[in-house]
Amino acid sequence: MAETITITDNRTGESIEIPLVDGTVDAKAWRDLLPGIWFDDPSFSATSGADSAITFLDGGAGLLRYRGYPIEQLAGSTSFLEVAHLLVRGELPNGPQLKAWKSEISEAAPIHENFHKRILEGFRDDAHAMGVLVSSIAAMSTFWPDSKNIEDPDQRRCEIVRLIAKMPTVAASAYRRSEGLPYVLPDPDLDYTSNFLAMMFKTGEAPYVVDPILHDAMDMLFVLHADHEQNCSTTTARVVGSAHADPYVTVSAAASALYGPRHGGANEAVLRMLTEIGEYGNVDAFMDGVKAGDQKLMGFGHRVYKNYDPRARIVKDTAHRVFDVTGTNPLLDIALKLEEVALADPYFIDRKLYPNVDFYSGLIYQSMGFPVEMFTVLFTIGRTPGWLAHWDEMLTQNSRIARPRQRYTGPADRDVPTIDER
Ligand code: SDX
Repeated sequence: MAETITITDNRTGESIEIPLVDGTVDAKAWRDLLPGIWFDDPSFSATSGADSAITFLDGGAGLLRYRGYPIEQLAGSTSFLEVAHLLVRGELPNGPQLKAWKSEISEAAPIHENFHKRILEGFRDDAHAMGVLVSSIAAMSTFWPDSKNIEDPDQRRCEIVRLIAKMPTVAASAYRRSEGLPYVLPDPDLDYTSNFLAMMFKTGEAPYVVDPILHDAMDMLFVLHADHEQNCSTTTARVVGSAHADPYVTVSAAASALYGPRHGGANEAVLRMLTEIGEYGNVDAFMDGVKAGDQKLMGFGHRVYKNYDPRARIVKDTAHRVFDVTGTNPLLDIALKLEEVALADPYFIDRKLYPNVDFYSGLIYQSMGFPVEMFTVLFTIGRTPGWLAHWDEMLTQNSRIARPRQRYTGPADRDVPTIDER
């Protein structure tokens, strides 16, 4: 039987048959039948905005695959740079390709001295690290004006390397500035994640010794955050990129969306929520407040996953390995109790609310020594290859500029009154 639907305009009796293609209805056929009639879908929850070969999600089954590989396999057996290569170049690198890729990224890691002296030093001492990072990413576009040549694939490839390479350097520098610490320059002898941890936490002249368990946990967390299909920040990247803006302002816009507490800012909000709950005995009262609509259970719920977020499961397992090194985070018991209550309570079950990637990640970050305001910065480092892969894919597809329609609800046509008539 043909996979089609038939739409009839009962005002004219005219009908059209529209094929269902990969779970979508082609809006062009709709436009032809019903010009000037729009789908009303403000948060795009029933709208496909792109064809993409990068990431596959099945929210009902709790599946996540990057270029066809299950996240559970990638998270346990590949490094973040291998996954970044997979996302932006389409395949996992072989030995020689990985060696060349690592070298490209390492060489591009340093940032211009003016960045430290003129841009980072321009912020208030108490500036939030995400505000510094979002501004700094956009400022990068002033250092590389050639990045506007977005139709040149080689130029795009060069900017993709620069952004992946420099994100940890700028992120760590934002932290060092806020702590009044001297900047630590990238060390070409260190791998990507070791280099980031050293730029963050190195003190004095002695080489920074990276704990292998913390290194592997950080690298895996970057992998888990690397991409997630058409989420809010990636959609932002595709929309801004569709205007042919340069990749720096495009990624800055995406990071701005990620900063929101409903999105990547949730990992910071979870820690603030756990700290506010304060102790195990306050969990039930807090959950009563959630069910009364007084507040949200941050780190729970997802537009796509109506099952356990597969990343949350991996993060939770990783937490125990990190705590073996750092000592258990005292807030863990509160988090575990919140999850236990939520998974048994009809309010959350009926709404299919499960822990998402942000629920446990902050506990790890805090135990590793990151301040709460750096949590979404860590998400940004991880998500950068994903945003860039979608940006590159959108340009390769020669996508048209994103420009949705609206349902107008304002006043009808009227004449302008004089100031005395108003
Ligand atoms: C990320 O899209 C992605 O892929 C994002 C992400 C990625 O990798 O890019 O996975 C990363 O952003 C994860 C989500 C992080 N955000 C949070 O943890 C913030 C808390 N969660 C909620 O704000 C909410 O769940 C969202 C924003 C994540 C999803 O919102 P939706 O899909 O618009 O769901 P909704 O608001 O329509 O909720 C449906 C119902 C409502 O109740 P009713 O009106 O039906 O009675 O569920 C309730 C909501 O009030 N609800 C919650 C809740 N989330 C939804 N109630 C309490 N606590 C919550 N967290």
